[in-house]
Amino acid sequence: MFSTLLLLSLTACVSASHGHAPNSTFYNPIFPGFYPDPSCIYAPEWDHTFFCASSSFNAFPGIPIHASKDLKNWKLIGHVLNRKEQLPRLAETNRSTSGIWAPALRFHDDTFWLVTTLVDDDRPKEDSSRWDNIIFKGKDPYNGKSWSNAVHFNFTGYGTEPFWDEDGKVYITGAHAWQIGPYIQQAEANLETGETGEWRIIWNGTGGMAPEGPHIYRKDGWYYLPAAEGGTGLGHMVTTARSKSISGPYESNPANPVLTNANTTSYFQTVGHHDLFHDRNGNWWAVALSTRSGPEYLHYPMGRETVMTAVSWPKGKWPTFTSISGKMSGWPMPPETRDIRGIGYPLGQRQHPRNPHLHPQIHSPAHLTHWRFPIPSSYTVCPPEKPYTLRLTPSTLNLTALNGNYAGPGGQTFISRRQQHTLFTFTVDLDFTPSRFEEEAGVTAFLTQNHHLDLGIVLLPRGSATTTTTTTTLPGGQQKQNPDEEEEQADPDELVPHVRFKGESYVPVPKSVVVPVPEGWRGGKLMLEIRACNATHYAFSVGPAGRRSLMQRVLEVSNEPVSWGFTGTLLGIYVTSNGRNGTTPAYFLNWRYVPQEQFRD
Ligand SMILES: *[C@@H]1O[C@H](CO)[C@@H](O)[C@H](O)[C@H]1NC(C)=O
Ligand SMILES: *[C@@H]1O[C@H](CO)[C@@H](O)[C@H](O)[C@H]1NC(C)=O
Ligand SMILES: *[C@@H]1O[C@H](CO)[C@@H](O)[C@H](O)[C@H]1NC(C)=O
Ligand SMILES: *[C@@H]1O[C@H](CO)[C@@H](O)[C@H](O)[C@H]1NC(C)=O
Ligand SMILES: *[C@@H]1O[C@H](CO)[C@@H](O)[C@H](O)[C@H]1NC(C)=O
Ligand SMILES: *[C@@H]1O[C@H](CO)[C@@H](O)[C@H](O)[C@H]1NC(C)=O
Ligand SMILES: *[C@@H]1O[C@H](CO)[C@@H](O)[C@H](O)[C@H]1NC(C)=O
Ligand SMILES: *[C@@H]1O[C@H](CO)[C@@H](O)[C@H](O)[C@H]1NC(C)=O
Repeated sequence: MFSTLLLLSLTACVSASHGHAPNSTFYNPIFPGFYPDPSCIYAPEWDHTFFCASSSFNAFPGIPIHASKDLKNWKLIGHVLNRKEQLPRLAETNRSTSGIWAPALRFHDDTFWLVTTLVDDDRPKEDSSRWDNIIFKGKDPYNGKSWSNAVHFNFTGYGTEPFWDEDGKVYITGAHAWQIGPYIQQAEANLETGETGEWRIIWNGTGGMAPEGPHIYRKDGWYYLPAAEGGTGLGHMVTTARSKSISGPYESNPANPVLTNANTTSYFQTVGHHDLFHDRNGNWWAVALSTRSGPEYLHYPMGRETVMTAVSWPKGKWPTFTSISGKMSGWPMPPETRDIRGIGYPLGQRQHPRNPHLHPQIHSPAHLTHWRFPIPSSYTVCPPEKPYTLRLTPSTLNLTALNGNYAGPGGQTFISRRQQHTLFTFTVDLDFTPSRFEEEAGVTAFLTQNHHLDLGIVLLPRGSATTTTTTTTLPGGQQKQNPDEEEEQADPDELVPHVRFKGESYVPVPKSVVVPVPEGWRGGKLMLEIRACNATHYAFSVGPAGRRSLMQRVLEVSNEPVSWGFTGTLLGIYVTSNGRNGTTPAYFLNWRYVPQEQFRD
């Protein structure tokens, strides 16, 4: 009896002090790695699921979609842009900052809508062909085939978003190309045909650089119009305006900027480009992009990632945001569940299959990524001559390709996954017997065509080794009593396989390192490794496969060369004939990405 009373009174005490579920704790980034410009919705009709889209630039498949029912366990469920015929022009983008910018994901009338821009950043800003504005629609985000081909509409700008007003009219709002703006424009639109009415300026922002990523929300009789300003670097911020009429005039929030980490010492910088959504309890949340760089802004190989924060938005008032950090507190979250359909792995899961390529479809698992469209015949899973491997046939062009910007119809033989952890180890075994000059296969930390760090096996004349660094001799190679004498007698033009490190970046990279593959390792499989030893450096290593104790470090290199611009580092494998005629395939197996640590402050 006593204990029952005690229990009752304790229960009463607990419910009196909390009323309902306690506030939540969660961690940023919610999508680590190259997932910028997030746009999220809550779809009660879809089993109360949240869906988010992100920018993908030249990566293919493009426009990744994450889903969650509890805002904690997220899963990459697929991609809006998953077939070449949806948007053939992605093959022709001519710059590393080109491709898919700033998608807006919305759900209306039982249909998912995705409005975005394919940017060809090499063309003048005022040239409308630079901005290919497009609409995709789909009925089932778990089924890539359900996404339509792109419907194009005319707008000289980007960051476009659809909005359905209460009177049935449909609008698109976007950021006019800002060097001849800057301003936010809007037009009535037919999303089925891409026809638009007259574009009108509705807001000029608060005077920050590049007002972009506008969204419209209707709440409590107001049209709210938030945007990103200040550019996507350290000055990035969220500003808001509102109006009683969709077409304005919009008055700026006196509290602007309402969300930014500019001028702070936070590890999370560049916070901006947000989207708002609410959960089933009517509590509001925001997602935004952020860069884990600290104000030094030198080392951020994972680029612009997706972060989340709680938003207070009382009736008739402006929304206010909790500022972004690694550990966050916010509204109570929906009950925890990992029950999400779809093909990807839950984020945060540590185990990854040893060989994801041994799946009949190259785009499963969902996280595997190419740069523009792959040529399918260049990738063979389980080729008959070497089962249990992935066979890659070389592209003529290497990862830099012609000008660091364009790759042409020959494409690039490259497959990768995002770096998603501060510390990780990425290894793969390579079975490759090059037969022609400059045939090469290897691993890469790839940000863009003009920012990548590669460790390859390449066929070069015997006399090619670099001699200026202490790392140019792999100890495993010193099996001969007198290697120098041996070298002198050998034909210096004879082609032998070499280990080569080569970097490409706008910031200084170490000189190439070229070392002959030790005699004792030739003819066997080699293990290639990229490891993030700390938050600022990668180590590149090589050794005979299956003999970890013989692994040799080729060099340590700063990740500054891949901390730049709009994208984030991809870890992958490539095969190329470096502009020549070579056709020798390379075979890869035992692909492993082992997450080790996530830095949040
Ligand atoms: C790509 O840019 C280069 C100059 O960097 C130019 O020569 C080439 O014609 C361009 N290609 C396309 C398809 O725009
Ligand atoms: C876009 O503009 C071009 C050139 O003015 C025109 O031919 C085309 O019909 C327009 N497209 C749409 C969807 O309005
Ligand atoms: C925005 O700026 C443009 C160009 O300076 C100006 O013509 C326009 O009146 C401004 N619009 C608003 C809504 O402030
Ligand atoms: C950060 O500081 C600079 C220099 O004082 C100032 O111009 C800028 O407006 C500040 N940015 C924000 C978002 O507070
Ligand atoms: C719970 O989180 C919301 C959103 O951040 C905040 O407004 C509220 O004050 C928090 N409540 C408590 C009890 O901490
Ligand atoms: C990170 O590793 C590099 C290479 O080993 C080293 O030079 C650098 O001092 C390390 N940085 C920190 C913060 O430990
Ligand atoms: C890529 O190939 C071109 C020739 O097509 C060559 O000039 C360049 O050095 C190569 N770059 C790398 C990083 O190997
Ligand atoms: C490739 O092969 C063709 C035909 O044999 C030859 O004409 C051409 O010079 C070769 N190109 C290179 C870069 O070796």
